Amino acid sequence: MSRRPIIAGNWKMHNNRAESAKLVCAIKEAIQDIDKDALPEVVVAPVFTSLGVVSENICHCGCERIKLAAQNCYFEPKGAFTGEVSIDMIKDFGAKFIIIGHSERRQIFSETDEMINKKAIAIIEAGLTPIICCGETLEQRELGVTDSHIASQIVKALDNVKPSDIANVVIAYEPIWAIGTGKTCDSTEANRVIKVIRNTLAQIAGRENAEKVRILYGGSVKPETIKEQMAQSDIDGALVGGASLKAESFVEIIKGAMK
Ligand code: PGA
Repeated sequence: MSRRPIIAGNWKMHNNRAESAKLVCAIKEAIQDIDKDALPEVVVAPVFTSLGVVSENICHCGCERIKLAAQNCYFEPKGAFTGEVSIDMIKDFGAKFIIIGHSERRQIFSETDEMINKKAIAIIEAGLTPIICCGETLEQRELGVTDSHIASQIVKALDNVKPSDIANVVIAYEPIWAIGTGKTCDSTEANRVIKVIRNTLAQIAGRENAEKVRILYGGSVKPETIKEQMAQSDIDGALVGGASLKAESFVEIIKGAMK
């Protein structure tokens, strides 16, 4: 089963409009001459306030090499939800992906598995692709509950999602202790947990659908780590935070994930 890799940059709360435009243009320029079929699917997720300017620099000028994502959304279509942004509002910018369930959202903003499930269902209904994050804390890892915790996050996030829709979601395995710490999870261990995720998907959606799901690794991905990560059987790309904020390192990571 060949799954097209994805390299997604999660810019988190960085970059105003001018900085976002500069960054996306630098990425665009660096990859514009690369054969499209050799490239992984390249995704950038700016802050909401930069969706417009990034969209203008990719979607509106026909750049097919970079796709737009949001870092979050709300599952209701509209209404009295101060501070929230709906999926249709994000889709309006030409976004194709929405990251949900990032550990920062779960830990700092108290997002629950139930909310993440509602978001996943609404994103799929809108015809976009959720990038569903999961991951264990250091404490959970030390207690030996990593696998059961991750499996439970996956099952809950995908409750009531049709098996054929599950085939199209993207999952990001991001051990929390590896995010922004410079401590990358060992590639073989990341691959092992990703296999646990794939087996969980097979239980809920069947083996054939599970084999289609692209599962990314995230947590201190760097140009120096990507080749080894991509060489693993089940790692289908990366969700990159810090190293996606500089065009040079992000492009190195993209190149490291090329066929
Ligand atoms: P990091 O962040 O690459 O800076 O560790 C990854 C993420 O949070 O998605």
